[in-house]
Amino acid sequence: MQMIGLGGVGILPAAPVRLRNRDVEYPYRQDSDFYYITGFDEPESIAVLAPGRPQGEYILFCRDRDPQRETWEGSRSGPERVVSDFGANDAFPIGDVDDILPGLIEQAERVHYTLGVNPEFDARLIGWVAMLRRRGSLAAAHAPDEFIALGHMLHDLRLYKSRAEVGCLQRAVAVAAGAHRRAMARCRPGLHEYEIEAEYLHEFRRHGMQPAYLPIVGSGPNACVLHYSANNRQLQDGELLLVDAGCESELYASDITRTWPVNGRFSPEQRAIYEVVLEAQQAAVAAVVPGNHWNEPHEAAVHAIVRGLCRLGILEGSPAAIIRDGSYRRFFMHRTGHWLGMDVHDVGDYKVGEQWRMLEPGMVLTVEPGIYIAAGSRGVARRWQGIGVRIEDDVLVTRGGCEVLSQALPREPEQIEALVGTAA
Ligand code: GLY
Ligand code: MN
Ligand code: MN
Repeated sequence: MQMIGLGGVGILPAAPVRLRNRDVEYPYRQDSDFYYITGFDEPESIAVLAPGRPQGEYILFCRDRDPQRETWEGSRSGPERVVSDFGANDAFPIGDVDDILPGLIEQAERVHYTLGVNPEFDARLIGWVAMLRRRGSLAAAHAPDEFIALGHMLHDLRLYKSRAEVGCLQRAVAVAAGAHRRAMARCRPGLHEYEIEAEYLHEFRRHGMQPAYLPIVGSGPNACVLHYSANNRQLQDGELLLVDAGCESELYASDITRTWPVNGRFSPEQRAIYEVVLEAQQAAVAAVVPGNHWNEPHEAAVHAIVRGLCRLGILEGSPAAIIRDGSYRRFFMHRTGHWLGMDVHDVGDYKVGEQWRMLEPGMVLTVEPGIYIAAGSRGVARRWQGIGVRIEDDVLVTRGGCEVLSQALPREPEQIEALVGTAA
């Protein structure tokens, strides 16, 4: 409210309901910005922030109570309860929005709104502004002079996690870590990737959580497909399995990857690659320190991976030259991490102007180096081909350095071997 200031109005629509196919909706997921401000998870809602409005600065439009619809769709809060339970100062039925919202816009000089995310709502908002402009020439109505991206303000707030937000992230991490343990314990050759996926989904749902993104369950060559999601192959003896899966607690996401041998024993080649990735991850985590810039963990991971691949003879030449020319990207083609929060690839700028952003306490990021040697990689000995390894953990920047929120989940090769197959 302070950032918007007097003379401004902030407008945040809820996420629309989306159809999957005839009469079937996608599971409803509230818009992250809307939920961050409101904590309200019903569709067809609009939050309005109107600093200085005497009748109430925080206004929520929501669905009206409707006993008949509630029989089909479940209970609705209605305007009374969004005031008593969600802290709105004032509330109206969504059906009245065309009568009320233009009046709120008319009183503002600046509209703070994120264009381009919700095209249907963009069109409605433009319609209200156009109406005010038309009326302006006839009846002294007033259209706002400025549109300002609300997302930019909100996303900077969302980048710094409060204690309560860290609590949500910790709960999401704990459940995802439990799911990884369970999947490793149940793993054995002959299962299908979807059977492993089912362990995650059951573990998430039995804790009341939802997957934060489509789980990636890639065995053998599929471990080298970065966003693999078909999850329909049979696990073969002697292969690796890479699982990247996380869940949401109150819309806060965990995002964790582990890679393990399907039969519980790393082959010498798998273990060699695994150890390079682990070394890269440890080097990157050590660089997650307040005052370091965003790219330092990535630079540390790249150094460790290039040195390791040179040591194994998979890359040839001087590490410095390989880093300069970027040829390591054949095997490590993504960045070492991203911000983590209500969106798995969370909001927040990575650069300020031309400079990488400094890490500060309260920021949360993933650290997820990987090496992927696709089958058929030219110039690479066959014994390395088809090996894909990623190790991903969720990390909170603290005053003295960082805290790996998923620290308790095994990642040392011996720990992993000791766990895989124990409940198969
Ligand atoms: N699961 C997507 C990622 O790791 O970024
Ligand atoms: Mn991930
Ligand atoms: Mn990630």
